[in-house]
Order: sequence, then C-alpha cells, then structure tokens
Amino acid sequence: MITKCLFPVAGYGTRFLPATKSMPKEMLPIVNKPLVQYGVEEAIEAGMNTCAMVTGRGKRAIADHFDINFELEHQIAGSGKEAYLDSIRNVLDNGIFTMVRQREMKGLGHAILTGQSLIGNDPFGVILSDDLCINDGPGVLAQMVELFKQFRCSIVAIQEVPMDEVHKYGVIAGEPLKDGIYRVDEMVEKPTQEDAPSNLAIIGRYILTPDIFDIIRDTPPGANGEVQLTDALQTQAKQGCVMAYKFKGRRFDCGSVPGFVEATNYVYENIYNKKG
Ligand code: G1P
Repeated sequence: MITKCLFPVAGYGTRFLPATKSMPKEMLPIVNKPLVQYGVEEAIEAGMNTCAMVTGRGKRAIADHFDINFELEHQIAGSGKEAYLDSIRNVLDNGIFTMVRQREMKGLGHAILTGQSLIGNDPFGVILSDDLCINDGPGVLAQMVELFKQFRCSIVAIQEVPMDEVHKYGVIAGEPLKDGIYRVDEMVEKPTQEDAPSNLAIIGRYILTPDIFDIIRDTPPGANGEVQLTDALQTQAKQGCVMAYKFKGRRFDCGSVPGFVEATNYVYENIYNKKG
C-alpha cells in the first residue's frame, strides 16, 4: 500500500571527519554493511520497494552502492566469496532506487520537500539512516505501516530519552491511546529542558501523508534557522491527525561516535557473529 520511502542522505557528517571528507557518512559501515543499507533493508521489508534518495554533492558512492558493479560480479562469480554479496544482491533484486540532489542544506523539512518529485501524491515512509533500529520481529517501519492502515495519518516513531538529552530531538506531547500509541497535540524541535513538553523524542522513522509537502512550503525556518519537519508536522497535527508510536526494538544513534561504536559492537556480537 505504501510503496515509497524517502532517504534524506545529503548531510555532511561533520562529526565523523576526517572519515567523511570524501565519503558519505551513510556509507560508513556497521561491521560489514553501510548504514544506509540497513535502512534500505528495513524499507523493503515494510513493502516500500522504491527507495527515493535525496542526495547531494559528494554522495555518488551511495548511487554506486545501489547499482551493479559488473567487474566485481565477474571476478567473484563462482568463487567462495560470492556469499559476501548476498545481502546487497537481495536489495538490488527487490529495490528500485531513485535520486534527486538537494543543492543547499536548509534542514530536514527542505530535504523532504526536495524529494517531492520522487514521491508524488501518495503516503510515504521516511528513514533517517543515522538512526539504526534493530529488533527480532518486524522492523520499525513495518510496525508503523500496520498503524497507518488503522489511522491513515502521519506517524512518527518515538522513544523515551533522558530529560538532559531532549535538546537533540523533536519532542512530542499527546494523548495516550493504547499500546504505546499517542495522538499528538504538541511537537517542538530541539527544545530546552524547560520547554520540552515531555521526554518522548522523535526517532528517524516517519510515515507522512503527502499534504505535508504544501505545509512544508508554508513553514518558516525554525530551530537552527532550518526548515524543520517537526514544525510542519505540528501544523498537520493541528489540522488533522498525527500519531506517535513507541516502537518495539532497539535504536542506536549512529550520528554520534559513541552510538556508532555501540551499534558496531552490538551488530558484531548479536548478528554478524551469530551468522558464523
Ligand atoms: C532530526 C529531526 C528530529 C529527530 C531526529 C531523530 O534531527 O529534526 O526531530 O528527533 O532527527 O534522529 P537531526 O538529528 O537531524 O538534528
């Protein structure tokens, strides 16, 4: 039903310099797989086979990653090393990749708007690949698709965070319905502890209805002087409905060095090593 997922992947990755000087931060590997591929696998699992990438200058490695490398295929074909290509072959067999370049970095809202030409007029998913989500059952986006079927409105993934970290996130407040689902009535991007309406922070998984594009167009720059998706969602929450969902699973903040290292250790011990 929802077939497209948007990946804003134009950011600079300043916190990982010099590693990200000439390499996109989304290509940094968690063990043996680039961060963005984890996100793409989650989208495909949720039925979103079209992965729409909002890229930028210096991000060609992402486009190359989601394409065939004939030389490599030829060299490795029939050898014992072929199994190393399994996961990316699977992604290429099942995914369609479209790209548009964001020419200026004007915030997440602006990145989403840049992706409009790839999305069209249907509800769509969004994955911020810095947030790596891992769990045993269905992935976070697949969980959110189930909710969308019920509510038919935008949905944000949330998680409780310590109050001294709310300034890093979009924060929501709302009416709890059931099973970790809230009807959102307030959203604030990067609030101070005093201004935060709760400790329920938005994590980088969204399902958005396409009216969000016009709303973003009318949304003035907010926190950090950037056009914020959270501000547009706040308008949408007032006009109609936005749900927040405490997802099942574990999330790693791979946009920070400690979170990245934690994810690496976790994946190595719990996924990579177990596969043998
Ligand atoms: C973005 C969103 C923010 C959200 C966060 C999740 O912020 O603007 O609302 O909580 O992702 O990772 P960023 O991390 O890009 O500053």
